[in-house]
Amino acid sequence: MKEWWQSFFVPITGEIMFSSKTDTSGSEVDQILQMSHPKKGGKILDLACGSGRHSILFSKKGFLTTGLDYSKFYLNDARKASKKERQRIDFIQGDMKNIKSHFKPNTFDLVVSLYNSFGYFKKRSADSQMLREVYRVLKPGGKFIINTLNAGSVKAKLKSSISSGREPIKNVFMIDAARFEPDQKKILCEWVIIDTRMTKTKLFRGKFEQNVYTHTELKALLKATGFKVKIVWGLLPGGKFEPNKTWHQTILVEKPVRSL
Ligand SMILES: C[S@@+](CC[C@H](N)C(=O)[O-])C[C@H]1O[C@@H](n2cnc3c(N)ncnc32)[C@H](O)[C@@H]1O
Repeated sequence: MKEWWQSFFVPITGEIMFSSKTDTSGSEVDQILQMSHPKKGGKILDLACGSGRHSILFSKKGFLTTGLDYSKFYLNDARKASKKERQRIDFIQGDMKNIKSHFKPNTFDLVVSLYNSFGYFKKRSADSQMLREVYRVLKPGGKFIINTLNAGSVKAKLKSSISSGREPIKNVFMIDAARFEPDQKKILCEWVIIDTRMTKTKLFRGKFEQNVYTHTELKALLKATGFKVKIVWGLLPGGKFEPNKTWHQTILVEKPVRSL
């Protein structure tokens, strides 16, 4: 049976997620490079790269960049945008928990998983598998930056379910409902989008569910994978991390050099 992430990431959800982000991508990339300082011209993997907004900026700064995503729609956009910007980037379609067939061990200086792209799998063991894959493709001494939901804050903010209506793009209306399921430790969301920009109104209805990790849990998982935790901060593009307040957590870890 198909998992939700195989059908949720279509053009309309991408338009809603990414159109509000164009202004912040530059400062996110600057911050990532400042924190991780990969070697000049080094290799970066943008895991779950979406429409390539970070990949293109890494490439412009002289890094050999690869973007991997499952959505063929977003990869198409990413390829078009990188061509327009005259950047040579490998955009690959794949599943982030199974990147064995795409990359050799010890390939990348930096891997990033940005804007809440972790915890998508039915079983938590698949999230752990993804982390093991990242570890394998990083060079010893290479860094991994993960930016995902923070269960501490999710639990506090979603004590009861919430839903709201908005118009994220002119003439596109959406209802966004979310709840936290404590037994499964998952956030369950539903998006209903009504796009009235064309003569024929289009309706999208999609659900997503995400495993959420407290800061302690995620750090423990990263350590169990073999990583050394180096830096922790809040929501991209920055800020102090507060375990019960900050919606996202961002953690920079390193693959130890001794793992050669
Ligand atoms: C919230 S978006 C983030 C995109 C991008 N990192 C950004 O910051 O703009 C999540 C992305 O994860 C991708 N994705 C979901 N499941 C995936 C999987 N199993 N393997 C690879 N990519 C996946 C989606 O297609 C989508 O582009």
